[in-house]
Amino acid sequence: MTIKAFIFDLDGVLTDTAEYHYRGWKRLADELEIPFSREDNESLRGIQRRASLMLILKGRTFPEEQIQEMMERKNLYYLEFIREISPRDVLPGARELLEEIRAAGLKSALGSASKNAPEVIQRLGIENLLDAVSDGQSVEQQKPAPDIFLHAAAQLKLSRAECIVVEDATAGVEAAKAGGFRCVGLGPRERVDGADVIYPSLANVHLSDLISKLEFNVKDMNFPK
Ligand code: BG6
Ligand code: MG
Repeated sequence: MTIKAFIFDLDGVLTDTAEYHYRGWKRLADELEIPFSREDNESLRGIQRRASLMLILKGRTFPEEQIQEMMERKNLYYLEFIREISPRDVLPGARELLEEIRAAGLKSALGSASKNAPEVIQRLGIENLLDAVSDGQSVEQQKPAPDIFLHAAAQLKLSRAECIVVEDATAGVEAAKAGGFRCVGLGPRERVDGADVIYPSLANVHLSDLISKLEFNVKDMNFPK
């Protein structure tokens, strides 16, 4: 078997901070009187802070100082939300899968664009199940560039062929593919269509099933019953 590790995205894969990112941006957008809907928010999945703000501003220009202030303000709102995070907020199936990976002697890493990732994994109580952490501070080029996943694989001392990326965002799946990784996509097919295997979420996803689908190249929507 070639699979030796899994590299997990954080937001929307291991926990639902996607909702908190939305609320933080929504509050900022309301204050700026810029229209911003949940639908708009979908295109921000996996996208780093600055690039997200640029998408929200839709071509409106501001001096750099104000841009910095807006990013800081959104992050303060976000930090208020994540203060409430506890081990109960690990998404269904995620902790079980991390434990199965550890028990099978394989490795797990984090590959998240978020600069807040270390705090979130600590609050979730999963940092001891991760062998390496690559986050928004680790690389310059963010998703859809592959750098974050290549950085995680390098920390694990494994090749791209030995690591499987788990992602919920189009930009994340693109990053995985750009880096030459196989990828498990979570969520609606239209969002993660480029992935090799697609599940609605990690709920009831077990390592043995995942590995056989990846090894035998089975791409199907295996919605657990
Ligand atoms: C990603 C999220 O994981 O991290 C994005 O999907 C977010 O929504 C990005 O913008 C950056 O997060 P942070 O915590 O550094 O602002
Ligand atoms: Mg995500």
